[in-house]
Amino acid sequence: MTSRTVRAINVADLRDLARRRLPRVVFDYVDGGADREVTLRENERAFEAVRFRPRGAVATAECDLSVTVLGRQWKVPFGLAPVGSSRLMYPRGECAAAAAAGAAGTLYTLSTLSGCALEDVRAASEGPLWYQLYLVGGRDAAVKAIARARRAGYTALVVTVDTAVAGLRERDVRNGAKALLARRFWTMLPHAAQLLGHPRWLADFLRDGGLMQFPNVVVGDNPMRYVDVEGALAQSSVAWSDLAWIREAWGSAPIVVKGVLTGEDALRAADAGANAVVVSNHGGRQLDEVSPTLQALPEIVAAAGDRLEVLLDGGVRRGSDAVKALCLGARAVLVGRAYAYGLGAAGGAGVTRAIEILRDGVVRTLRLLGCQGAGALDGSYVDAPAHWKRPA
Ligand SMILES: Cc1cc2nc3c(=O)[nH]c(=O)nc-3n(C[C@H](O)[C@H](O)[C@H](O)COP(=O)(O)O)c2cc1C
Repeated sequence: MTSRTVRAINVADLRDLARRRLPRVVFDYVDGGADREVTLRENERAFEAVRFRPRGAVATAECDLSVTVLGRQWKVPFGLAPVGSSRLMYPRGECAAAAAAGAAGTLYTLSTLSGCALEDVRAASEGPLWYQLYLVGGRDAAVKAIARARRAGYTALVVTVDTAVAGLRERDVRNGAKALLARRFWTMLPHAAQLLGHPRWLADFLRDGGLMQFPNVVVGDNPMRYVDVEGALAQSSVAWSDLAWIREAWGSAPIVVKGVLTGEDALRAADAGANAVVVSNHGGRQLDEVSPTLQALPEIVAAAGDRLEVLLDGGVRRGSDAVKALCLGARAVLVGRAYAYGLGAAGGAGVTRAIEILRDGVVRTLRLLGCQGAGALDGSYVDAPAHWKRPA
């Protein structure tokens, strides 16, 4: 770990380091959100609206951080969310992040839109792995990926349901993300200075082979090219009825529906055969001006009852955020940008630092709350705004 990474005392420090190392177009791809970025901001702010109710004079020397999700124990109550194109942030980015998660005894979720083959990612990690499915490339491509993920030993399939089309991420448009992908000299030229201004990143990126294709989306006999993905995403929306053939292809192992924001959709997911849902608005990257996820959580927990396990992602930047989500009924949380900043700052070492920062934060919060472990958290440890709690 570089000394700067070690000195990062919070996720905001890792974000600063990532901003320095990455070209603007890559940093903003990670950091940005859709449209006005209201949801991006509110995801984080929602955690600030919840207050703790600690118990004094409780000895908590041995805090148990572990949680059980879909029958597997994670050593910490957070796992890593799918982050597409992680190879833009660091060479072999998906393998590096999965290895760091595995070493910490927690989950890594591999995106369909990853630059590393799912078998290589499996080999890189000793921890639990989930595979996140988009229907890019059509049903045949999805069935091939599902079969590969099952063979490789991924233990759950995550079906993302909030991506009927890609959200408008205005920073990406302004930075010429599409133009840079075009790989045509005159189209790239106005935006190329951002890359040339980061020669170390550029050398790493080129040494890693550039990000040319998505090895887990095989259309016909060929992996999908990077430049084709936006069009493919626009034709890849998933319907509840698709869960039937997805279940048949995947078999009896757990299915997780990611992108649920209402009690009604949680019930639809349960009816369609899902085992768990992730309360998620895609980190504010899809439909802007939806509820922050922490606010939506109580309604979904109430609707899910004992039919579904409920996880949450969006805006988790501190261990105390994870603790608040658990108090409001989440079994665990997933983090996206918190580790992606670490990856952009220093590769696997940066992800390890992000995990350490979050884990230390969970321990400190539990001890200060006077709570013995993640499994003992409940609503009595927090005050949340009254209007968040809607009956199912
Ligand atoms: C750069 C980036 C790429 C993402 N790619 C995917 C993806 O390929 N599939 C997916 O289901 N979610 C994707 N997400 C959403 C995350 O899985 C997660 O829902 C979100 O990051 C949570 O919010 P947070 O970043 O505030 O933790 C991506 C998020 C980011 C930041």
